[in-house]
Amino acid sequence: MKNLIDIKDLSVDEIQELIKVAKDIMQFPEKYSERCKHKKLATLFFEPSTRTRLSFESAMMELGGNVLGFSSADSSSTAKGESVSDTIKVVGGYCDIIAMRHPKEGAPLVASLKSDVPIINAGDGGHNHPTQTLTDLLTISCEKGRLDNLTIGLCGDLKFGRTVHSLITAMVRYKNIKFVLISPEELKIPDYIKEEILDKNKIEYVETNDIEEHMDKLDILYMTRVQKERFFNEADYIRLKDYYILNKEKLEKAKKDLCILHPLPRVNEIATEVDDDPRACYFKQAKYGKYIRMALILKLLEEADWYEYR
Ligand code: CP
Repeated sequence: MKNLIDIKDLSVDEIQELIKVAKDIMQFPEKYSERCKHKKLATLFFEPSTRTRLSFESAMMELGGNVLGFSSADSSSTAKGESVSDTIKVVGGYCDIIAMRHPKEGAPLVASLKSDVPIINAGDGGHNHPTQTLTDLLTISCEKGRLDNLTIGLCGDLKFGRTVHSLITAMVRYKNIKFVLISPEELKIPDYIKEEILDKNKIEYVETNDIEEHMDKLDILYMTRVQKERFFNEADYIRLKDYYILNKEKLEKAKKDLCILHPLPRVNEIATEVDDDPRACYFKQAKYGKYIRMALILKLLEEADWYEYR
């Protein structure tokens, strides 16, 4: 049975197929409106979410299926001390597929080892967020028309930002990808990403703390929020939270066809004056998330059915 725990669980060809199906769904939604009739998705969110949970639920509804779940650990029996493994074993009896978010790195992997139904990692701590990456890839494919030959600026909290870790892991598989890693010293990309992913794949990258230094070279600028919930010390968060605020002035040297992305939620890292700029794609990006999650649900359910009847 196929789960999605890490973006590496999908080959480049499988990602390409998901993007193709998502684009077809966007064009012909009626073709898909009953594809998940009588199927149920459980969304188990042990950590807050707006986009990921609601886009998963909306995706399943648009496929004609049903949804159940909880949106916080406090409203589930986790509050009484139930383990993730027991929760998954039980919920697997009520649904056909599970999307789960958990503050602990690796929790969705543990869940997948115990589950009778496919598990989708909807974000685990500061580790991974593969469905955000699929969203980002669909957005880049639609907005830039390609996934190769891109210079990508990643800006903000590169240490705790799980969306950045997953996106780098995915993009290094495409041709001629370069990264500009923009962060304060304390929030630099972890060494394991540099050594295991960037260096191992011979990817060109530079590190800087200056958002404007390489602005003129970027095809994509991926802004991120400083991850308040991962800080041990509030004073450090307060000192770093407004380190980067992208505004019109900082975009003066940017390419005319720059694509500005942000996984959202935004706090202060992009001034609202940028929202009207045609290069601002972050709200479109959130919408693309629904279509790629529809494609993913279809794929995993089809594979689970095949596994069951084989
Ligand atoms: N991008 C993202 O994961 O947003 P949510 O936390 O609102 O799900």
